[in-house]
Amino acid sequence: MIVSRLILKNWRNFRSADVDLGSRVFLLGPNASGKSNFLEVFRFLRDIAKQGGGLQKALSERGGLSKVRCLGARRYPNVEIEVHLAESEGRPATWRYAVGIKQETRGHRQACLDYERVWKGEKQIVNRPESADLDDPQRLTQTYLEQINANAPFREVARFLESILYLHLVPQVLRHPDSFSGPEISGDPFGRNFLERVARTPSKTRDSRLRRIETALRLAVPQLKDLAFTRDGRGVPHLEAVHRHWRPKAGKQREDQFSDGTLRLIGLLWSLLEGDSPLLLEEPELSLHSAIVTQLPPMIHRIQRQKRRQILISTHSPDLLSDRGIGGGEALLLIPGAEGTEVALATSLREVRDLLDAGLSIADAALPHTAHPEMKQLSFLE
Ligand SMILES: Nc1ncnc2c1ncn2[C@@H]1O[C@H](COP(=O)(O)OP(=O)(O)OP(=O)(O)O)[C@@H](O)[C@H]1O
Ligand SMILES: [Mg+2]
Repeated sequence: MIVSRLILKNWRNFRSADVDLGSRVFLLGPNASGKSNFLEVFRFLRDIAKQGGGLQKALSERGGLSKVRCLGARRYPNVEIEVHLAESEGRPATWRYAVGIKQETRGHRQACLDYERVWKGEKQIVNRPESADLDDPQRLTQTYLEQINANAPFREVARFLESILYLHLVPQVLRHPDSFSGPEISGDPFGRNFLERVARTPSKTRDSRLRRIETALRLAVPQLKDLAFTRDGRGVPHLEAVHRHWRPKAGKQREDQFSDGTLRLIGLLWSLLEGDSPLLLEEPELSLHSAIVTQLPPMIHRIQRQKRRQILISTHSPDLLSDRGIGGGEALLLIPGAEGTEVALATSLREVRDLLDAGLSIADAALPHTAHPEMKQLSFLE
């Protein structure tokens, strides 16, 4: 299943957005245009839907409703999110889930539902507030999405949203998880528990995944071989590989000695191979050589052919976007303006469409549209 359409009102720096999404989506835009905020909507829904989550927790983890509500919101200040779910790209939506969130005007001024609606196909199966909600407004502080008793008729939606995975692996965090103590961040986006995740995977699956990763890794880091999972004397999980060098006896290295790019690539490949739920990738190009970055889109495409999972990728990389296999319908441009950021398919801009038709890549046709004119001024910094 994929999220085939996303409609937003007053979410972070999007006052309003309405976009169709395919199974592979590239998010392009200047710094602070809202690429991460766009991905954050999916994590927010996941945090509502997941066990032990819920609306209030998802909001408080983000600093409250006032932090997720668009600062530029006008007279109508409610935050609204609607997702359409389809079996695959180009198919009609089988589910629609919509939620409107407001702040109580009196009392504790808690965040609560303005509405919650669910459609299965054309039929609406949830339409809140219901009479019970009006009798007991406290009920509106929780979504049905988060309640096992209430979400039974649309459990499939809850499970799907709960399964969303986000990756923005930070090598230092993976290498030294103990140095980054403090409350855990939901979904472990930065890889603090990555090795635990690898450890929890059944050994047969784990070994076959590591073998596939090693094969792919050979292109990027040819001196590494025999990538394997191991535990130290204290039972702590590690990744280990043989580092070949000019001496006849090659030495073993653990993840704390792997390079940043090696670790990010391992994390990326592992996440791509793990599961078939939507995957949100934050700037996967970081720390990688351009020759490897150019290989990411075709690699993702190949994995999607087997797994049919949706992948959303934020990127600044011309190398990544130089792949001519990326269609204009797969690239979303985030264009900041006085009224918040606009989101548009690259092909919705005539000029971009013409350049793509003329055979240019998304990097050449669309990326220049995402630069502020003032950016050139940066070179005058004294
Ligand atoms: N509630 C809000 N209302 C309006 N704008 C907000 C809100 N919350 C965050 N922002 C703005 O969103 C911007 C950050 O967006 P985001 O982090 O998604 O950008 P990005 O495109 O991922 O940038 P980068 O490429 O630098 O990672 C900041 O300018 C921030 O001020
Ligand atoms: Mg970002």
